[in-house]
Amino acid sequence: MNILVTGGAGYIGSHTVIELVLAGHNVVVIDNLVNSSKASLKRVAKIVGCEIPFYQVDIRDREGLEKVFAENKFDCCIHFAGLKAVGESVRLPWEYYDNNINGTLVLVDVMRKHGCKNIIFSSSATVYGNPAMIPITEQCPKGQCTNPYGQTKSMLEQILTDLQVADPEWNVVLLRYFNPIGAHKSGTIGENPNGIPNNLMPYITQVAVGKLKQLTVFGDDYDTPDGTGVRDYIHVVDLANGHVKALQAIEAKCGVEIYNLGTGKGYSVLDIVKAFEKANGVKIPYVIGPRRAGDIATCYSDPTKAKEKLGWVAQYDLEDMCADSWNWQKNNPNGFED
Ligand code: NAD
Ligand code: UFG
Repeated sequence: MNILVTGGAGYIGSHTVIELVLAGHNVVVIDNLVNSSKASLKRVAKIVGCEIPFYQVDIRDREGLEKVFAENKFDCCIHFAGLKAVGESVRLPWEYYDNNINGTLVLVDVMRKHGCKNIIFSSSATVYGNPAMIPITEQCPKGQCTNPYGQTKSMLEQILTDLQVADPEWNVVLLRYFNPIGAHKSGTIGENPNGIPNNLMPYITQVAVGKLKQLTVFGDDYDTPDGTGVRDYIHVVDLANGHVKALQAIEAKCGVEIYNLGTGKGYSVLDIVKAFEKANGVKIPYVIGPRRAGDIATCYSDPTKAKEKLGWVAQYDLEDMCADSWNWQKNNPNGFED
């Protein structure tokens, strides 16, 4: 298929571009590089052995998008582009609603004008809020999002669903990611957060590489086996492959379909620290701090639907995730600047 990947220079997008090309698809990337650099796509080109056509375009820029659609014919868009920092979204709600919601509205309007009515959207387990069931199936009702970032995901799911109901020519796949970590085996691409990382794994790798002194564990008094928060960590290459598999749903003219992409296993913060130390032989000093506002105790998926309907199952285990995260960080202590 001919696929437009928005946000394809970013963490999940760049890994997905690789798997799409390896599966024989033609890929064009658009990205405004607000949270990424062209260097990631150069490294992707090295891995796959061909250049990836790239346009530096903001998804809110209608004229820029029109040009991309005039020059290319797309069967489907995989839509990663968006701002994703939870804390920042609380400080900058307007910017998050404008970028994520307005950007997606412009994108889908240009898509439909050009007859491309297939979209795979990056949603998040965050839409479940404090989940009503564990493990979380797709039947679990959406919950209360505690921040504007989460609201944009939840609202965009609704907007894309309404669009499909009004025009059944659309096929919409909503992929709810759990916690992506890890990196490509080559160690040449990976997650490259700006400033001090908010997420657990990049924080740990920066402690390991000596950029940060110690990890603060956000609370050890949750109702979990060791008192620390439990999440469903998924290798980013497995997540990338989930998108390749999701194209089957598009081809089968699925209407609207929701899939959880997770492993179905929950690990605590201290499990991750121990697994990282064991996999890599590096010590991670940590202290226990207070809970982080908005965090929940436990969140992990039931990924049965993706297995049964798409034949997708996560292949990598926690040891792979820890080893690959570290391989990327230690070879690229300054991200794509190295
Ligand atoms: P990322 O920041 O690495 O990638 C997003 C990319 O989108 C970046 O390259 C950025 O430059 C680009 N972008 C942002 N706004 C844009 C705009 N207006 N126009 C064009 N490009 C724009 O993030 P990621 O971790 O790869 O996440 C990809 C998607 O998955 C996002 O939508 C994110 O919300 C979603 N998601 C991520 C996680 C996670 O934990 N990483 C979890 C659930 C969902
Ligand atoms: N944690 C710490 N110390 C840190 C960072 C995190 O103890 O320095 C803990 C958190 O309290 C939580 C766990 O590690 O228990 C995971 O936290 P992350 O910030 O890595 O991930 P979250 O589960 O909070 O959220 C992430 C993304 C969201 C996305 C969600 C999907 O940030 O955008 O996964 O499940 F929606």
